[in-house]
Amino acid sequence: MCGIVGVTGNSNAKDILLDGLEQLEYRGYDSAGIYVNDQHGDGFLVKEKGRIADLRALVGDEVVGSTGIGHTRWATHGVPSVRNAHPHVSANGRFFLVHNGVIGNFAQLRETYLQDVELKSDTDTEIIVQLVGKFSDEGLDTLAAFRKVLSLVDESSSYSFLMMDKEQPEKLFVAKNKSPLLIGVGDGFNVVCSDAVAMLTQTHDFIELTDGEVVIVTPDQIKILDEKDHEIKRKPFHVDTDPAAAQKGAYPHYMLKEIDEQPGVMRTLVQEYFDASGNVKIDQDLLDTLGQADRLYIVAAGTSYHAGLVGKELFEKLAGIPTEVHVASEFAYNPPLLSKRPFFIFLTQSGETADSRQVLTQVNEWGYPSLTITNVPNSTLSREASYTLLLHAGPEIAVASTKAYTAQIALEAILVKAYGEAKGIQKVKDFDVASELTKVANGMQELVDEKHNVEQIAKEMLSTTRNAFYIGRGVDYALAQEAALKLKEVSYVQTEGFASGELKHGTIALIEEGTPVVAIITDPKTAAHTRSNAQEVLARGANVLFIASRDLATDNDQIVLPEVDPLLSPLVSVVPTQLLAYYTSIQRGYDVDKPRNLAKSVTVE
Ligand code: F6R
Repeated sequence: MCGIVGVTGNSNAKDILLDGLEQLEYRGYDSAGIYVNDQHGDGFLVKEKGRIADLRALVGDEVVGSTGIGHTRWATHGVPSVRNAHPHVSANGRFFLVHNGVIGNFAQLRETYLQDVELKSDTDTEIIVQLVGKFSDEGLDTLAAFRKVLSLVDESSSYSFLMMDKEQPEKLFVAKNKSPLLIGVGDGFNVVCSDAVAMLTQTHDFIELTDGEVVIVTPDQIKILDEKDHEIKRKPFHVDTDPAAAQKGAYPHYMLKEIDEQPGVMRTLVQEYFDASGNVKIDQDLLDTLGQADRLYIVAAGTSYHAGLVGKELFEKLAGIPTEVHVASEFAYNPPLLSKRPFFIFLTQSGETADSRQVLTQVNEWGYPSLTITNVPNSTLSREASYTLLLHAGPEIAVASTKAYTAQIALEAILVKAYGEAKGIQKVKDFDVASELTKVANGMQELVDEKHNVEQIAKEMLSTTRNAFYIGRGVDYALAQEAALKLKEVSYVQTEGFASGELKHGTIALIEEGTPVVAIITDPKTAAHTRSNAQEVLARGANVLFIASRDLATDNDQIVLPEVDPLLSPLVSVVPTQLLAYYTSIQRGYDVDKPRNLAKSVTVE
């Protein structure tokens, strides 16, 4: 969470920072700020509560300079306010710092070193810049002071820091631990950013940093120092993404654009992972290692966890390999008993989720093999896992995940196919994933083309409700959990995804006259049972919406899903639920792309 940007050696610094922050707003949006100075160290600090647009409105023409840093915040310590917005400044007015992460031992550092300093904010970040100021006042040079502070930050902390020193006005001091940070190589200038997307209009060449390194960036040099101050040479990697892919185009919101992009994402995955003869193209070494596992452990958070629940069905039902799905933040500190030959799959759209990374670090210490399935090449979890498979979904900017969820499920199906083919499993051989995904793409297209029906249903059923339920069994239950998360996170309607048979064991007490209940029915084995559970809530006054596959639908079902293999049905049944969430949020007047209290890349535990 939080996005940081920096630039040195470009007279357009102010605009580069503001434009970059706008691209990073998905990482947090409760306050923002920039600091810019010229070659003489004459600088401007501007901070504002709220969005980047609010900050931009405040930044006047007088703000000029060629070096600067910027920050968009997702509050951890201290309420959203101008006072707590970054950059923070040292008491001697010399150092300016932005931070993404959490300083675990900030209270102890304050107590030990800063009793005589009057703090200006309630943040953990300010402690860091005050310490640099203090150690510099005591005679250390800037690098030594910065290093000393880094050595005092405890292991539980996460950070990416970007710091400026008024007395060395063209230098950016950079360090990271756990939180993501990249250096972008410009033509006569250099930039720093939490995510390449922030600087794609400036450069496509980025250098990744490793935890523990300190980097000094000037207009013509990127000096990477290891923990012993030895210089490291590292080549940049190229990011192909077209900056236009991260724009809304004619769409009113990113979420709607990303929902609409899902048929294309399915087709791209087929192209990327199947050759002309229909064979899966997945690294043989990965398949050999996976083939030796006696149990799979899928680890993920939020929507990605829900994609893992569908993955479990695919791995177990098609390939017969036992699969467990774990919430990353739970696994990290309460791991289950492991099998003899475990294989870990990390599902993470961003590749940066701190909860998942914590587990991966542990898995690496144990020495078990791992695969990261992510949308972001070179992301932290991608670099640190034994193998990576990319989602090829294009940038997902809306905070609520849509196309990354469906891409994750599709890629899990592709992986099952590769695994089962390699093992000669007949059931997998008979399952033509490439053509099933093409069918899914066509089905998704039908559904997005009919989005206005869903808009109407959202208006009648959800636009004023206090709460709602999604129910289903098997994969429909997995989908119900994702559908509920989507609705609650963008529309703030309290929503639960429930195993439909479980309702009568307690939760049915919440059903009142008019309570919205959405029943998902795509599995022939359980369709009749889910329907009778829906009757139970209907009898108690619920307002029931049926979403059913064409072959299982009745004349009264309001949303009929195109037919696809029941194991892949969440790929189509999710589409109307995403649209229900989207339209409900819009109808309630919320900012659907940036729901309150959330950030897209959750880099704190
Ligand atoms: C919800 C959503 C989150 C993420 C979760 C994990 O719409 O996007 O629940 O799925 O924060 O993020 P990743 O997939 O980046 O690890």
